[in-house]
Amino acid sequence: MLRFRAPRFSFGSLLVFTAFATQLSFCLADALVERSTQIPAPVSVTPDQNWDGIDGQWSTFTLRVGTPQQFVRTFVSTASQQTWVVLAEACSDKSDVQACTESRGWTYNTSQSSTWDQIGFYMLWTERNMGYSGNGQYGYDTVGLGGLGSEGPTLKNTTVGGFDTTNFYLGIFGINPKPTNFSSFNDPSPSYITYLKQDNLIPSVSFGYTAGAQYRFTKVLASLTLGGYDTSRFVPNNLTFGFAPDNERDIVVGLQSIAMNDQTKSNIDLLPTPVFMYIDSTIPEIWLPLDACKAFESAFGLTYDNATNLYLVNDALHSRLLAESANVTFTLGQKTTGGETVEIVLPYAAFDLVAKPPYRGLQNSSNYFPLRRAANESQYVFGRTFLQEAYLVVDWERFNFSVYQCSWVFGASAHILPIYSPGTAPNVTNTTGSTPDHPVSSHLSTAKIIGIAVGVGFSVAIIAFLLIWWFSSEKSEDEPPNSPGSPPANETNVFPKAELPAEPTIRHEMCSGSDGLLKPEDVVSGFPSPTSEVEGSERKIYEMPGDIPPRLEAGGRQLSEKETMMVRERIYNGVELAPPPSSPIAEETPKRIAPVSPSEVTIVNRRGLQPPQNVSPITPRTPRDGRDLEADDMILSPLSPMDDSTEGSSSRRRFSYE
Ligand SMILES: *[C@@H]1O[C@H](CO)[C@@H](O)[C@H](O)[C@H]1NC(C)=O
Ligand SMILES: *[C@@H]1O[C@H](CO)[C@@H](O)[C@H](O)[C@H]1NC(C)=O
Ligand SMILES: *[C@@H]1O[C@H](CO)[C@@H](O)[C@H](O)[C@H]1NC(C)=O
Ligand SMILES: *[C@@H]1O[C@H](CO)[C@@H](O)[C@H](O)[C@H]1NC(C)=O
Ligand SMILES: *[C@@H]1O[C@H](CO)[C@@H](O)[C@H](O)[C@H]1NC(C)=O
Ligand SMILES: *[C@@H]1O[C@H](CO)[C@@H](O)[C@H](O)[C@H]1NC(C)=O
Ligand SMILES: *[C@@H]1O[C@H](CO)[C@@H](O)[C@H](O)[C@H]1NC(C)=O
Ligand SMILES: *[C@@H]1O[C@H](CO)[C@@H](O)[C@H](O)[C@H]1NC(C)=O
Ligand SMILES: *[C@@H]1O[C@H](CO)[C@@H](O)[C@H](O)[C@H]1NC(C)=O
Ligand SMILES: *[C@@H]1O[C@H](CO)[C@@H](O)[C@H](O)[C@H]1NC(C)=O
Ligand SMILES: *[C@@H]1O[C@H](CO)[C@@H](O)[C@H](O)[C@H]1NC(C)=O
Repeated sequence: MLRFRAPRFSFGSLLVFTAFATQLSFCLADALVERSTQIPAPVSVTPDQNWDGIDGQWSTFTLRVGTPQQFVRTFVSTASQQTWVVLAEACSDKSDVQACTESRGWTYNTSQSSTWDQIGFYMLWTERNMGYSGNGQYGYDTVGLGGLGSEGPTLKNTTVGGFDTTNFYLGIFGINPKPTNFSSFNDPSPSYITYLKQDNLIPSVSFGYTAGAQYRFTKVLASLTLGGYDTSRFVPNNLTFGFAPDNERDIVVGLQSIAMNDQTKSNIDLLPTPVFMYIDSTIPEIWLPLDACKAFESAFGLTYDNATNLYLVNDALHSRLLAESANVTFTLGQKTTGGETVEIVLPYAAFDLVAKPPYRGLQNSSNYFPLRRAANESQYVFGRTFLQEAYLVVDWERFNFSVYQCSWVFGASAHILPIYSPGTAPNVTNTTGSTPDHPVSSHLSTAKIIGIAVGVGFSVAIIAFLLIWWFSSEKSEDEPPNSPGSPPANETNVFPKAELPAEPTIRHEMCSGSDGLLKPEDVVSGFPSPTSEVEGSERKIYEMPGDIPPRLEAGGRQLSEKETMMVRERIYNGVELAPPPSSPIAEETPKRIAPVSPSEVTIVNRRGLQPPQNVSPITPRTPRDGRDLEADDMILSPLSPMDDSTEGSSSRRRFSYE
C-alpha cells in the first residue's frame, strides 16, 4: 500500500501553507470589509424643470413613489425625516381634479401601490411650531429619487406620509436623519438619508442644498447633493457652525444684524435685537420677531394684512420696491454677538413672491413680502426664501454645518465634493491587502478583524495539524527527518504539487474584491476553495473551514463577535444560543443590505453617544380616518416622544434620541 510520507510536509510546504493561509486571512478580511468601505460617490439629485407652489415659485424634485411608481414633485425639507406626498383624495373632490393635481405636484393614490404597507394615521409633527399642522396617513413604500431620465437611487420600505391638508401644498422630501418612532415597539423607522448611507449609496449622512432662484438669469434650479456638496454654487467662507442642543431645532445660526441698502437709503438696521434663527427649508417665509418686522415695515413701506397675517404688496408698492432694488444683508455668526461672521445678501427680487389662493385664505393672487411675525423664539426661522441666496451644507455625522452665499456664475458646471464619514477617508492608510486603488477605511473595521481572526485561526490550525502529523509520522516511520527547507529530491512528490497549482486561481478569486465591489457569489465561491484543495490530500483537514460561519458571506453584513460565536456554537455543539439577529439573506429587499437596528440608527444621531433618556414611547393610535380632523385634537404623533400634557413644558423631551 502506498502511504503518504512525511517528507511531503517538509517545512517548505509548511511555509507555503502558512503563506497561503495568511494570504487567505487578509483576502478574507478584504472580502468582508470591501462592501462597507467601498466609498460611494455623493448623490446629486436632479431637480425637475418645474416651479411650483402657492407661496412663491420654487424649484421641485420629483420622487417616484410606490409600485408601479407614481410621480410626485416635492420640496426639500431639512427639518423633516419623512417623505410626504399629497394624497389623491386631496383633489378628488375638487371641481377641476386635473388642475388641482397638477398644482399640487401630482398626487399619490395608496391603493394603486402594491408595495404600500400602511402604518396608520398620525399627526404631521414637523412645523407644528409654525402653526402648520395636519394629519398624515403613514405607511412604508418604495421611494426613488429623480423623475424619468434622471433616476437616482430607489429604496424600498421607506417611511411615507400622505396628507391632504393645504398647510403643505406640495409633497416634502425630508433629508433629516432622525428616525421615526411610530409605536412603543422597539423599531424606529430610519429616515431616507440614513438608509442611503446604510446601503452604502452615499459617503456620509450629509447634504448640500440651495433652493434655486427663479429671478436669476433664466431661472436657476435648486441643487441638492446627498453625501457632499456642489462647490460651484457658493462663495467659500471659513465659518463652521455647531449644532444647537435641541435636536428638533439644530441648524441654528445667530442672526447678529440685518442691514438694508437701496437707491435712496443705506445701512438701515432692521434687527433691533439679535436672535437665534433656525434654518428650515420646509416653509417659505422668513419669520422674525415683531420689532424686526416693524423695522422692515418702515424700511420697505409694507403693510400687515390682519386677515392673512401676510405682508401683501399692492401694485404701486411693488413697482416702487422693484425700482429701489434694495439689498438686505444678514450677518450670521455662531453666537448673536461677536465671533466670526458670514454675510448673506438677499436682493429684493428674492422677496418678490406671489401668493396664490388658497394660501392663507387668499381669494386672489397677490404679490407678497415673505416676512412673518414670529410669536416667540421657537418661530424664528429662515425659510426657503433665505435659501434662494444661501447654500447650506450640513454634516449630520459631525454635528456641524456651513452657510454660504450663493455664487451666480452663468453656466458654471457642477463640481461635487464628497463629505466622508468621520474616520473614513480615502488614501489615509496603506492597506495590507490587495486593494490599493480602493478607498479603504482608515481603521480596521469589525469585519476586517473578524476576517483576519478567522483566517489566522485557520492557518494556525493548519500549521498545528501539520506539525503533529509531521512529528507523528516521523516517529512511526523511523526515517531520518528531512532538513527543513530542503526539497525531497528522492520522492515522487505528487500530492503537494497537485495542491499548489490551484493556488493562483484561488488567490485571484479570493482577492477578487480588488476588481470592484465584491458580490455575494464571489465570496461564496471563494470560501470553499481552500477546502477543495486540502481535501485532496488529507480528509481530516476537511473539518477546519467549519470555523467560517457561512452566514458571513450571504448577508454581507458584519457579524459581531457574539454572533460569530453563536454560529460556531451551533456548528460544533448543535446548540442554538439565541435566534440570529436577522436573516442575512434579504431576498425581499436586495438593496437593503442589513436591516436597521436601533443601535445603528443612533450613530447618525448627534447625541447618539448617550443612551436615550427621558423619552416615553408612543401609544399607537387606532387607525381611523384622521385626515379630516383638525390637528388641534392632538392626535398622537409618530414623532412625539411624550404625551400632550408635558409637551412644550420640557424642552428636553423630544422625538429623537438625545
Ligand atoms: C385610487 O385608486 C383606486 C384604484 O384604481 C381608485 O378606485 C380610487 O378612486 C383612487 N382614489 C382616488 C382618490 O383617486
Ligand atoms: C424610539 O425608539 C427607540 C428604540 O426603541 C427608543 O429607544 C426611543 O426611546 C424611542 N424614542 C422616542 C422618542 O420614543
Ligand atoms: C419596513 O421597515 C420597518 C421599519 O423600518 C420594519 O419594521 C418592517 O419590517 C419593514 N418591512 C419590510 C417588508 O421589510
Ligand atoms: C480661510 O482661511 C484661510 C486660512 O486661514 C485663509 O487663507 C482664507 O483666505 C480664508 N478664506 C476666507 C474666505 O476667509
Ligand atoms: C445690491 O447688490 C448687488 C450685487 O452685490 C449690487 O450690484 C447692487 O448695486 C446692490 N444694490 C444696492 C442698492 O446697493
Ligand atoms: C390689524 O389689527 C391691529 C390690532 O389687532 C389693529 O390695530 C390694526 O388696525 C389692524 N389693521 C388693519 C388693517 O385692519
Ligand atoms: C378678487 O378679484 C376679483 C376680480 O379681479 C374681484 O372682483 C374681487 O373683489 C377680488 N377679491 C378680493 C378678496 O380682493
Ligand atoms: C410659540 O407660539 C406659538 C404660536 O402662538 C405657540 O403655539 C407655541 O406654543 C409657542 N411656543 C412657546 C415655546 O412658547
Ligand atoms: C465640520 O467640522 C469639520 C472638522 O472641524 C470641518 O472639516 C468641516 O468642514 C465642517 N463641516 C462643515 C459643513 O462645516
Ligand atoms: C487616492 O489615490 C489614488 C491613486 O493612488 C488617486 O488617484 C486619488 O486621487 C487619491 N484620492 C485622494 C482623495 O487623495
Ligand atoms: C504607503 O506606503 C508607501 C511605501 O510603503 C509610502 O511611501 C507611502 O507614503 C504610504 N502612503 C500613505 C498614505 O501612508
